[in-house]
Amino acid sequence: MNDRSDDGFGALLPEVRVQPPADASRAMVERLRAVESRNITYVDDGWPVFWQEARGANVRDVDGNVYVDLSSAFGVALLGHNNPAVVSAVREQSGTLMHGMGDVHPSGPKLELLERLCALAPWGQARAVLATTGSEAVEVALKTAQVATGRPGLLAFTGGYHGLTLGALAVTEREHFRAPFTGRLYGGVAFAAFPDLALDGEGAADMALTEVRVALENGPPNGDAIGAVIVEPVQGRAGARIAPDGFMASLSQIASESGVLVIADEVLTGLGRCGAMFASQLVGLEPDIVCVGKALGGGVPISACLARREVMDAWPESRGEAIHTSTFLGHPLACAAALAFLNILESEHIADRARALGARLLEVLRGELASAQGVIDVRGLGALIGIELVGEGQAVRVAEAALREGLILLPAGDRGQVIELTPPATLSDLQAEHACRVLVRLIQEVAQG
Ligand SMILES: Cc1ncc(COP(=O)(O)O)c(C=O)c1O
Repeated sequence: MNDRSDDGFGALLPEVRVQPPADASRAMVERLRAVESRNITYVDDGWPVFWQEARGANVRDVDGNVYVDLSSAFGVALLGHNNPAVVSAVREQSGTLMHGMGDVHPSGPKLELLERLCALAPWGQARAVLATTGSEAVEVALKTAQVATGRPGLLAFTGGYHGLTLGALAVTEREHFRAPFTGRLYGGVAFAAFPDLALDGEGAADMALTEVRVALENGPPNGDAIGAVIVEPVQGRAGARIAPDGFMASLSQIASESGVLVIADEVLTGLGRCGAMFASQLVGLEPDIVCVGKALGGGVPISACLARREVMDAWPESRGEAIHTSTFLGHPLACAAALAFLNILESEHIADRARALGARLLEVLRGELASAQGVIDVRGLGALIGIELVGEGQAVRVAEAALREGLILLPAGDRGQVIELTPPATLSDLQAEHACRVLVRLIQEVAQG
């Protein structure tokens, strides 16, 4: 093992030695372009860098530059990258049982993880299905809702992002992702507007709730009856969009009165990211089904769909062939990683740290950007923060400039207008202060053109 845990890597400030992407990254990008579908990796003069190693909030690229990762690599590294306890759980598990037979001959780590997840679930009694990606957990949720209600139709929200597999894509509302595949997408989805205070002012929640009622009454384009509504407690990829107070509680109530199940897509927001085990608790959403993923495996791919016991029990007993399963369901290595993640989540009070970090970042950014040119809004819940800028693609420009300064962050929003921050909850005070200082300067520079 290359143990360099005393060199400070993980808690370092950025160290950009050669302007990224530098020679080694560029050479590898060239090789990549020869073998990977050109749709996958975005390449331009300033993007991307190849990663070599990561720990805590730091990433080192193949040219030796050190970055502070304010994205947690898509929200995954909530504990920081390569958390030592997760690494050692993976190492230990890989020495005994790497792969099992998920739905046939189960393994101990799978059982233990299911017990832990069901104990965390927001209901007295829960049951769960393990999966590998967030999209797959969403697929399980959509199927579960149909099995439980007998109604395949769905209600979803504008700006919602639930993944890109075909079932999940049908409830994802972004033309860019949907347009090439419209003919393959399920036509039983009605969309209601996600309330937007900036756009619709005080009446935003009421307008959106009216749309919800109308959509539930009229049903989706193909005429199917609606069995479930799927919603992110805070919209992530749309740019950390937070509904006005009371909206999620009213949505839950309307759904319950209409006999429609509520699916909370907590793939990004769940497991501590927003300052609580589930963001639903914070925004008043009362789900019947919850999807988690991203942070769950501490960097190893694993996800889960949890549901109230009576909802999940609508699935028939397996008579030898599960109707829904997959090769890597309950993968022992991923389950061991997830168990280590959950231990740290609780023992190191990660949700509280995410809440405190988010509050500090919001306070500084709001203070510094209050009167900044080109900034519309600075918002967030826990360690999920959005800085909305005026003008299409402005957040993309900031992300590229930030990379040159050793900060990794991602643009979000349907027009690349929101800088999204999902840092590790373990980001140090020094890293946070430095990141804010640089970010504020870059936002001002980009706004001035
Ligand atoms: C809220 C939400 N749901 C689902 C997904 C899809 O997860 P995955 O990319 O792991 O399939 C994402 C991914 O960003 C997400 O943010």
